[in-house]
Amino acid sequence: MVKKNFLNQLRKWRKDKEEQYAKAIMERPEKSTIRKLFSLPDVTLLMGERRFGKTATAHKIAEDMYRSRKVRTMVHLPPSAPLEIRRRIQKLLPGYMKITSKTEEWEKNCVVIYDEAAQTAHARRTQSGDAVALDNLIGISGQRNQFLIFICHHSRKLDLNVVREVNHIIWKRPTYAHQLFERDELADFTMKAFDFFAELRKGRKLNEPIRRMLKRNNLVLDFADFRFFSFENSLPQHWTEDLSNLFQDINKVGRKAPGY
Ligand SMILES: Nc1ncnc2c1ncn2[C@@H]1O[C@H](COP(=O)(O)OP(=O)(O)OP(=O)(O)O)[C@@H](O)[C@H]1O
Ligand SMILES: [Mg+2]
Repeated sequence: MVKKNFLNQLRKWRKDKEEQYAKAIMERPEKSTIRKLFSLPDVTLLMGERRFGKTATAHKIAEDMYRSRKVRTMVHLPPSAPLEIRRRIQKLLPGYMKITSKTEEWEKNCVVIYDEAAQTAHARRTQSGDAVALDNLIGISGQRNQFLIFICHHSRKLDLNVVREVNHIIWKRPTYAHQLFERDELADFTMKAFDFFAELRKGRKLNEPIRRMLKRNNLVLDFADFRFFSFENSLPQHWTEDLSNLFQDINKVGRKAPGY
């Protein structure tokens, strides 16, 4: 008798979870803001098509954290980033943002922007020193009250240990190909993100105003209560096209790295 009760309970529990999952996927995301959605500590994955505002959004989140809570930012760049470009970027950043390519330098109580995470958190390098070290850093980021933002073109190339630890996923506009080649675990969510941005676009031509509108928008999955939210972001005050191009140059160098 007891066994049967447990089985019924288990069935109901599973069904409830399925309901919750389906509800999160099917419901319209609630409109929110950076300040309402994020606080320290946090691990966030930021994904989307190239040139659709991933880096700018991470910088905007960092700017908001500084303005509202005086939290500083470490801009983590791959060690392959040429020194000259690093210096030029540092000059264009505000005083509360510091460039680093050494994880030991990550401060406590700070935002870490880990751009093009796939370059150093590579899925096929899971057993290598890099990925293991990253794993530990994610593990202790909670105690160190850090807000880690991993920026990645898509998740297929990202170490699963990073994917597993996230509190939020933010999608900038994904392409249809993203949805096809995404990790199975994330396929439903990426499809939702694809639909969200398709609905915003409403079949219109991808001209400059429409591109700008899409770049402003974000879809967020909050894993704490398993719900989707949306928010819009403007460009951070320090953002310039020079800065954007310098980051692009670094990513190009990184993409030539073996295995990328
Ligand atoms: N919210 C926004 N509003 C208007 N323009 C934006 C916005 N976000 C980004 N842009 C513009 O879009 C371009 C690409 O931005 P960004 O460099 O952040 O994209 P990305 O996704 O990080 O690109 P990549 O994949 O090359 O790293 C830049 O010219 C930037 O100024
Ligand atoms: Mg970028």
